[in-house]
Amino acid sequence: MNERMDNNRIIIFDTTLRDGEQSPGASMNLEEKLRVAALLEEMGVDVIEAGFPIASNGDFEAVSQIAATVTRSTVCGLARATKGDIERCAEAVRAAPLKRIHTFISTSPLHMKFKLQMAPERVLEAVTDSVTFARSLVDDVEWSAEDGSRSEHDFLCRCVEAAIKAGARTINIPDTVGYAIPDEYGALIAMLVARVPNIDQAILSVHCHNDLGLAVANSLAAVQSGARQVECTINGLGERAGNAAMEEIVMGLRTRADRLPYQTGVKTELITRASRLVSTITGISVQPNKAIVGKNAFAHESGIHQDGMLKHAQTYEIMTPESVGLHKSTLVLGKHSGRAAFKSKLKDLGYGLGDNAVEDAFRRFKDLADRKKDVFDEDIVALIDDSGETVSQRIRFLSLEVLCGSRQPPNAELELEIDGQTGKVKATGDGPVDAIFHAIRALFPHDAALQLFQVHAVTEGTDAQAEVTVRLEENGKTVTGQGADTDTLVAAARAYVNALNKLLVKREKTPPQAMTA
Ligand code: KIV
Ligand code: ZN
Repeated sequence: MNERMDNNRIIIFDTTLRDGEQSPGASMNLEEKLRVAALLEEMGVDVIEAGFPIASNGDFEAVSQIAATVTRSTVCGLARATKGDIERCAEAVRAAPLKRIHTFISTSPLHMKFKLQMAPERVLEAVTDSVTFARSLVDDVEWSAEDGSRSEHDFLCRCVEAAIKAGARTINIPDTVGYAIPDEYGALIAMLVARVPNIDQAILSVHCHNDLGLAVANSLAAVQSGARQVECTINGLGERAGNAAMEEIVMGLRTRADRLPYQTGVKTELITRASRLVSTITGISVQPNKAIVGKNAFAHESGIHQDGMLKHAQTYEIMTPESVGLHKSTLVLGKHSGRAAFKSKLKDLGYGLGDNAVEDAFRRFKDLADRKKDVFDEDIVALIDDSGETVSQRIRFLSLEVLCGSRQPPNAELELEIDGQTGKVKATGDGPVDAIFHAIRALFPHDAALQLFQVHAVTEGTDAQAEVTVRLEENGKTVTGQGADTDTLVAAARAYVNALNKLLVKREKTPPQAMTA
């Protein structure tokens, strides 16, 4: 094992904004990507893969802006092994104080023959050329062997050696199709450590997909064999079955430090917030029994378990909810609470908002407190995270009245402001939500298809706020809108309007060229 690998610090490379965003329905707009990147930086993530700059102007802009704002994490962009990709990537990450180009090419027989249609020797040349070119533009270059886990060992060793010789500082071995099993994948990493002569000049990295549900197990096995960078995503978001979940990697290492004596720089107390932010923005909810961040991950339902927990928490709890930032629902503030108390609550919840944003949130909090007796931490989080106020708003929700029930067809009377003009309409439909959405279409005609309509209760109880997610699709562009309100139907209208506003912003952007990594 080389000197760099003796170091037990694991570099956390988050690819929520690149591989995560590539998963169906997970697209985020610029402002959302900036919010996720800011939280990843605050969490202490070492490397943020912010996007694939050549893929679209939107991706380029997102990587550039993240590079211009993130200072403590390395900002990375993805590039295929071509000059055009690498140049565009270098341009996108230019403003970042810590920047990285991540370039990749497939090395498995299957990918080289059918996808690339390149002979292995030409792939090997491309490895050297692409890494050399990337190194002429930035100091920090990562090279990935796509489908590395299904590559022939001798050829993989030659590619890795060539990439390091050309200047790659990080060598990533993806299990692109989630095919590997832990002892096999661990052995692959050990084989590279043993056989590649210049391996001591690079950090070995792993990038595991979860097709067989083994992404985290494979990543941890690789760490035990010498990998010192793990690529992962919040909530395990990613292509197909997703990527290794960052929260599981980080908490696995923290909780089982006895068997896995490695450290990360991640502030685990921000995990719950990050999970919630990503699921709110993407509209992809977390399954209740998901490890670490599922709603039931710390719930003890059975009598025997509850009894044990009361006697000693460790009987059934291997980590505390607080360690991942999950706190008991606490009663926040009432309608008489003032600005100072509200500001201090925002600070406790980890929000560092500017004066205007605080003022805005305070106004919405007062409004909520008028309608809801008990306002909890979760209500405040929903108030901030679900607000569409940051999206440019050509359409504004003004009012809604709905008549429905078992005796009459539903009737929605909706008032919106569109480009400064107020409009009111009545509509009916198959149920009250359908009636509301018809009313929106009548006031603002459009062809976008509704892909997702989802309702969550923010807290327990019948007075809970409803948090509604709406996903719309128009000409291959997808947007996700959110709305929260004590009235589920108002939340539905707000979520639809929020999605439409995002769609209008997206319509103005140049159409993306379809492309996958
Ligand atoms: O899964 C994969 O192989 C990738 C590479 C581009 C790193 O995402
Ligand atoms: Zn991937």
